[in-house]
Amino acid sequence: MDAQHSATTFLLMLIQLFLQITAQDSLFPGSSISVEHSSDVLRSPDGTFTCGFQTISYNAAIFSIWFSNSTNLTIVWSANHGHPVYNWRSRVELDVHGTMVVKDYNGQTVWTNNVSSSIADRAQLLDTGNLIVKGKGNEILWQSFDSPTDTLLPNQNITAATKLVSTETLLVPGRYSFRFDDQHLLSLFDDEKDISYIYWPNPDSNIWGKQRNSFNSTTIGVLHSSGHFLGSDNFSFTAADLGLGIMRRLTLGYDGNLRLYSLDKSDTWMVTWMAYLGLCYVRGLCGMNGICAYTPAPTCTCAPGYEAIDPRDGRLGCKAKFRISCDDRQNKFVKLPNSDFLGHDQDVRHSVSLSTCKNICTSACSCMGFSYLQGKGNCYIKSAIVAGLTQPNYPGSVYIKLPKDVNVPKSSIPQSQPFGSEVGSPCSAVTTNVTVFLDMIDGSYSGPKY
Ligand SMILES: *[C@@H]1O[C@H](CO)[C@@H](O)[C@H](O)[C@H]1NC(C)=O
Ligand SMILES: *[C@@H]1O[C@H](CO)[C@@H](O)[C@H](O)[C@H]1NC(C)=O
Ligand SMILES: *[C@@H]1O[C@H](CO)[C@@H](O)[C@H](O)[C@H]1NC(C)=O
Ligand SMILES: *[C@@H]1O[C@H](CO)[C@@H](O)[C@H](O)[C@H]1NC(C)=O
Ligand SMILES: *[C@@H]1O[C@H](CO)[C@@H](O)[C@H](O)[C@H]1NC(C)=O
Ligand SMILES: *[C@@H]1O[C@H](CO)[C@@H](O)[C@H](O)[C@H]1NC(C)=O
Ligand SMILES: *[C@@H]1O[C@H](CO)[C@@H](O)[C@H](O)[C@H]1NC(C)=O
Repeated sequence: MDAQHSATTFLLMLIQLFLQITAQDSLFPGSSISVEHSSDVLRSPDGTFTCGFQTISYNAAIFSIWFSNSTNLTIVWSANHGHPVYNWRSRVELDVHGTMVVKDYNGQTVWTNNVSSSIADRAQLLDTGNLIVKGKGNEILWQSFDSPTDTLLPNQNITAATKLVSTETLLVPGRYSFRFDDQHLLSLFDDEKDISYIYWPNPDSNIWGKQRNSFNSTTIGVLHSSGHFLGSDNFSFTAADLGLGIMRRLTLGYDGNLRLYSLDKSDTWMVTWMAYLGLCYVRGLCGMNGICAYTPAPTCTCAPGYEAIDPRDGRLGCKAKFRISCDDRQNKFVKLPNSDFLGHDQDVRHSVSLSTCKNICTSACSCMGFSYLQGKGNCYIKSAIVAGLTQPNYPGSVYIKLPKDVNVPKSSIPQSQPFGSEVGSPCSAVTTNVTVFLDMIDGSYSGPKY
């Protein structure tokens, strides 16, 4: 009996040891993870997340965390995106002080967590997807949750010190970010070289229109596991499939839209909330002189008189096929109904007639066109034609300045057909199944309706 008992105990110990070897969640000081062996990874105790090197092109890899089970690889964090390492001899090491470094094949450090404590216990991948470095007293010396890339996971805080940055192909950081603005409001930014524009919440709404609270300097936001997000600025939203037990992620897409995803039963991501129902409102989606239209998928086209810089990628914008003259007798205006261009207003007038607005643009050589809101008489003189969009029932129209001899066939005037059959080449930036999302929200959506 006794011998049998100890044999069972021994067997159990063996099984436990085996589990520890195959499903390791910790990296101990003095050890490393190398790029060559795909089995050299950390796994969270319940298996949801994996951490290790992920190959992103034939010879480049990044140290990252991903969902173990999604059909398509979904990276939720990475240390060295933008600085990938060679996929031979590169490694990540942890030392006794808690310093974690990613080293390239030649020993060069490409990333470090900057920790230098007296004694570290281990690095550990948690079931939340958070990679932490713990001290001997279990205190957290560093956590990946404090340096998100383009994704926020449930129970991961977004604070004044953190932001999401969109990623391009090959995981290079993109131009959009999600962070707190200087009024403590969670916002989407288009970060250009030396200037950042906020494009969401709608910069034209006042604080009441935004339904936010700018007086709370706590600056924290968190997505709860149930799919409910709440920010200190009162920004909140709820997943269409609200409830526990579903894997979720909030990701800033490379198209500038912020989306909440759920992993469904077939391990495929479904969108359950998004900041923009109308993707055409994402600033600069179609580049300079481009116009975004719903056909019904958002599609980039060029303003009349302009042609695509690269027909395969509408996001690069369009260039003029003409030279504009400063002599106003040589020019004409072409009306694009139900359209607008956002920003680049060199002059704004209210309660003026259409002909007054036209005259202001005519007499300004730098004016490339204007947008006009009938009824209110709002007149926006444009120094550049950027962030164009068109949609049915849009109350304004734009008038673009073109040389008289440029022929503009009616068919070249962009029009949205949101309920029509799909025509044209869909904008390469758009991958989300909007139809399903609209079906799923079932009238409960309370955000802006464009
Ligand atoms: C991941 O997939 C494996 C194999 O299909 C399954 O056994 C495991 O339970 C799944 N893990 C999670 C966390 O869903
Ligand atoms: C570590 O410090 C360097 C230099 O100050 C900084 O560029 C880097 O972002 C820091 N890394 C982390 C993970 O905070
Ligand atoms: C998120 O913030 C709360 C409140 O400040 C804090 O208690 C919690 O530890 C934070 N969570 C993480 C994962 O950092
Ligand atoms: C907070 O948001 C709710 C709706 O989400 C709104 O009813 C309420 O007025 C907002 N509060 C403030 C202070 O803006
Ligand atoms: C500020 O935000 C924090 C975190 O969301 C919240 O607990 C607190 O009640 C808010 N304070 C006010 C005055 O709204
Ligand atoms: C995986 O990605 C490919 C290419 O982007 C796409 O065609 C396919 O639909 C995706 N599959 C799932 C299950 O999401
Ligand atoms: C959206 O998803 C539905 C249901 O999965 C599918 O029938 C439809 O073809 C999809 N539409 C697009 C544009 O991918």
